Amino acid sequence: MTAFNTLDHASVSGKRVLVRVDLNVPMENGVVSDTTRIDRILPTLREISDKGGKVVLLAHFGRPKGVDPTQSLKPVAAEVALRLGRPVAFAAECTGPVAKAAVDAMKNGDVLCLENTRFHPEEEKNDPAFVAALAANGDIYVNDAFSAAHRAHASTEGLARVLPAYAGRTMQAEIEALSKALETPEHPVLAVVGGAKVSSKLELLGNLVKKVDILVIGGGMANTFLAAQGKAVGKSLCEHDLLDTARSVLATAKASGCEIVLPVDAVVASEFKAHAPSRTVSVDQVGEADMMLDIGAASVKTVAAKLATAKTLVWNGPFGAFELEPFDAGTNAVAREAAHLTKAGKLLSVAGGGDTVSALNHAGVADDFTYVSTAGGAFLEWLEGKPLPGVDALRVRKG
Ligand code: 3PG
Repeated sequence: MTAFNTLDHASVSGKRVLVRVDLNVPMENGVVSDTTRIDRILPTLREISDKGGKVVLLAHFGRPKGVDPTQSLKPVAAEVALRLGRPVAFAAECTGPVAKAAVDAMKNGDVLCLENTRFHPEEEKNDPAFVAALAANGDIYVNDAFSAAHRAHASTEGLARVLPAYAGRTMQAEIEALSKALETPEHPVLAVVGGAKVSSKLELLGNLVKKVDILVIGGGMANTFLAAQGKAVGKSLCEHDLLDTARSVLATAKASGCEIVLPVDAVVASEFKAHAPSRTVSVDQVGEADMMLDIGAASVKTVAAKLATAKTLVWNGPFGAFELEPFDAGTNAVAREAAHLTKAGKLLSVAGGGDTVSALNHAGVADDFTYVSTAGGAFLEWLEGKPLPGVDALRVRKG
């Protein structure tokens, strides 16, 4: 297995430690509305600070085109200070004299947040001169931003090539959890893939059918698979142009010995609205005006029975329109079953991807899974089997 240097290998005392974190957090009216990503990096920040390192935070926020004060990291840095319970200074630049002066003023154990790295287009180009400008303010580099590791940017990839590089505690936990789930898992491995569209998860499905023993398909994308099997889907979300693609995923699964589990019943309504009048029907009885908005009780039972046979679960995407009651019931029920098996020590469960984390939080079980990744795009790319540049750059190079 590839080795990574972690904070266990780093000597940080008195050093300027450039710590890449993911502060791309949701904001409402200028206030951070979900602090999960901030909470995850606190152990790394505390550890470096307690060991006498100077913690210099590097992060992006949003997708600005050049300098954009509405996408400043200043309010996020204030939230980091609150959650950390220690002062966090802020520098209005991430390179140049302003950043240098702020770093030079730091004492051992201090924490400083530099401005949004994406204010500079060179960040996303992984421009060597920009990498060097960032590196000028650090002695060592710690990457704790797994959720940005699918980007080969200056602060996520370039820096690891020019400074002694270490995985932070969150990065380490992500790599360990994800490796256990898909690279060296205990079989049978069951994957749940839900969400709206097959088109956004084609590569992921193609990779998973070759790796997992059971693939449970849910959400709007299941409708495309049902339609590919000749079933009527009424007004349900369905990518009719992808029926052949869905059939080829089914064929690859068969050839790879992966069992595909599709819904056997659905909760249908005639409008996409919370508390819309609904009924449960077999997937063979979906009417012309019906929209499938959740899986039904028989499907939940089928999935629960499959889960009971599995040793490892990888989950991405909800089963239904979980944000609209009562169409959250299927996702909630399966999530609770997975949480129950995990707590009983029978299942290693790993979940990730934007909607998935919200769905598990909504079901009240996110803390009961073995590991819930805060990554969105990076989690998907990992499920697709793609290399993550930010992780690869941290691998210890031998020879
Ligand atoms: C995320 O929010 O998933 C990461 O911070 C990456 O953001 P990006 O998709 O804008 O690169």
